[in-house]
Amino acid sequence: MSYKSFLPTWLYNDKQIFNFELDKYSKNFWHPLIFVGEIKAGEIIEKKFLKQSLFISCSKNNSITVFKNRCPHRGSELCLPKTKGNPSKSIFCPYHGWTFDSFGELKNLPLKDDFQVNMVLSDYFLEKVNSLVNGPLIWINFSDQPISIDDQIELVELKCKNEWNINYGIFSEFSNTLNCNWKIAHDNTLDDYHVAVAHKNTLHKEQGPIKNYKYLFSKFCNVLVTPINSRENLYTFGLLPWTHIIVWPGKGILLISYPPQRIDQCSLEIKLASSSLCEKDLEAWKNDILNFLDEDKVIVESVQKSYREKFKLGPPNRLEQRIIHWQEVYKEFLHSSGIYF
Ligand code: FES
Ligand SMILES: [Fe+2]
Repeated sequence: MSYKSFLPTWLYNDKQIFNFELDKYSKNFWHPLIFVGEIKAGEIIEKKFLKQSLFISCSKNNSITVFKNRCPHRGSELCLPKTKGNPSKSIFCPYHGWTFDSFGELKNLPLKDDFQVNMVLSDYFLEKVNSLVNGPLIWINFSDQPISIDDQIELVELKCKNEWNINYGIFSEFSNTLNCNWKIAHDNTLDDYHVAVAHKNTLHKEQGPIKNYKYLFSKFCNVLVTPINSRENLYTFGLLPWTHIIVWPGKGILLISYPPQRIDQCSLEIKLASSSLCEKDLEAWKNDILNFLDEDKVIVESVQKSYREKFKLGPPNRLEQRIIHWQEVYKEFLHSSGIYF
């Protein structure tokens, strides 16, 4: 019988493929950066994405701009307003002292008349990163032609309209390093076959009996729906390239992502947002999540050891269909870039 098989293991272990994933594949998609509620009007905050430092600026009328933290003079990292070494209200470059406003425009520079060209301030500004607000999140992208955010998160908007449009007010986060290729961690979070075995006393108790698991798929997004009582469902969305959004009734939203660090290493980044829990309950919820993520860490790192050698994987189970779904989209991107296997 013919069936769609898992990606071959060499794709998890190949330098060229890894570079393709970072430089091309992942750039097609939008990446959630922070929750809207994490930044206030008039504030500028720093956030790292794939080791790159970014500034998120929220204007007085709440419009969001994201800049690269890179001075256009000679590339130094910049200091945010009102931080150590920069008591001013401007963004300040600690190398030669250029200053920028919250829109990223150059406002001042020392020895302006001593350049070999006539310095026109408006010719120099901080480089913007494509950004938008969708639902409770600020998203970024690094391509001239990204797929549309509506296509990317189609099922989230369809199934969780109400939860998606809540203004979340309290947050908690955690990050760790996983010693595995990012795709192993991503596959594992889309793997609903392992929950009753590997998370018998943790996540499985929340998600309930396997016989009730239901699936929906769109082109770029999939979701596992698990009824947690007679009225409410837990929605576990798998997004490309490496993000998961879990909408948890009565608690809030959990965001999990696995940005790559090296070919055999990725970050585990989680962020929780709630509009109903108090801080203590949010921390308790986070600890429950960290318990099952600890169980996953052991699994993914053991799989990584095996994937170092090429070997033929077994067939997928029905409860592994979300893995097959994202891998088919990934294969299509590889094929359209001339990489066949
Ligand atoms: S590198 Fe920033 S002012 Fe020179
Ligand atoms: Fe798991």
